[in-house]
Amino acid sequence: MARIRFQSVTKRYANGATAVAGLDLDIADQEFLVLLGPSGCGKSTTLNMIAGLEEISEGVLLFDDQIVNNVPAHKRDVAMVFQSYALYPHMTVFENIAFGLRMRRVGEADLRMRVMQAADKLEITHLLERRPSQLSGGQRQRVALGRAMVREPAVFLMDEPLSNLDASLRISMRAQIRHLHTQMRSTFVYVTHDQAEALTLADRIVVMKDGTIQQIGTPDEIYESPTNVFVASFLGSPTINLLEGALERENGAACFKRGTLTIPLPALQGGARNIVLGLRPEDVGTPGDGPQLHGVVDTAMPSGADQFLGVLVDDAMLFLRVGKDVRVRAGEAISFGLNPERLHVFDRETGRSLRGAA
Ligand SMILES: Nc1ncnc2c1ncn2[C@@H]1O[C@H](COP(=O)(O)OP(=O)(O)OP(=O)(O)O)[C@@H](O)[C@H]1O
Ligand SMILES: [Mg+2]
Repeated sequence: MARIRFQSVTKRYANGATAVAGLDLDIADQEFLVLLGPSGCGKSTTLNMIAGLEEISEGVLLFDDQIVNNVPAHKRDVAMVFQSYALYPHMTVFENIAFGLRMRRVGEADLRMRVMQAADKLEITHLLERRPSQLSGGQRQRVALGRAMVREPAVFLMDEPLSNLDASLRISMRAQIRHLHTQMRSTFVYVTHDQAEALTLADRIVVMKDGTIQQIGTPDEIYESPTNVFVASFLGSPTINLLEGALERENGAACFKRGTLTIPLPALQGGARNIVLGLRPEDVGTPGDGPQLHGVVDTAMPSGADQFLGVLVDDAMLFLRVGKDVRVRAGEAISFGLNPERLHVFDRETGRSLRGAA
């Protein structure tokens, strides 16, 4: 059992750099939580504080109801998979996986059983006598997971464990990690800068920037209702289209204005101001109902199942995802229908969403 709570936690490194500032976070027992954000935003620092590998400068960290600020790493019921895997090169795969158990003086029979079970789950039984140098990247990665698994920890920490793998292996390993979470019933905290990985794995995602939390929510909440421009831009591929313009009122109804473009935004409250309109590439429909978007095709890029269009609307280039049955060529005029409810609206000064709940 482990619920993990950060209460106003700040981490300052010896050189004075603040890596994490005033972090408040409540991770439920057995949750799969993903820390997501760009390089340097404080993800690893946060994970290392849970592991007990970094001291906390200010604030309180709790496991269940116990303050663990001063509990050393080996007394926390935590296992960690590092980005580098950190396998022992001179040991076999078996001994690498068994290492933590030997340190804890687990009996030989129990140790053997736990290593064999983990190897079986990870499908590396045939590799147990090899050394790490004789393994592929994906195999090494599974050994690193195995080493953490056999500990049967209450808290399982992973720092970008898939970043060294090729694209297809990454996708199959995602499924394995998700499966592992179901089997192990531990609390998982997983660090990545890959938004797609976060969206597939997480129960909840914490989006970080410059050592602070930007938003916490389920993958759906984060993707569908980003609280600011940063979160909106960080999730989604290709990224969300952002159009600067003005919020105006015509006959009491709000609309977005930019050049010749006018898009009604019925549900929006508040007075005139400068805004940024966000349109996800997939949020365009066939022309007909609702507000229309007119433009000229600049580029058409097939991408297997669908295609991406670069469309010039006035002076703005939008990237849109459409079915591959839409046959268009560069230079052709094209129109789309928009669903105002799927448009994102942000204040241009603060970057914050102007949508009700957000
Ligand atoms: N030992 C250290 N001493 C001083 N500053 C550090 C130390 N470790 C990290 N930092 C700084 O703290 C900030 C957060 O670093 P952290 O490693 O947590 O980022 P990250 O989100 O894990 O990034 P990445 O995706 O690149 O791994 C960065 O600005 C980094 O330069
Ligand atoms: Mg890191």
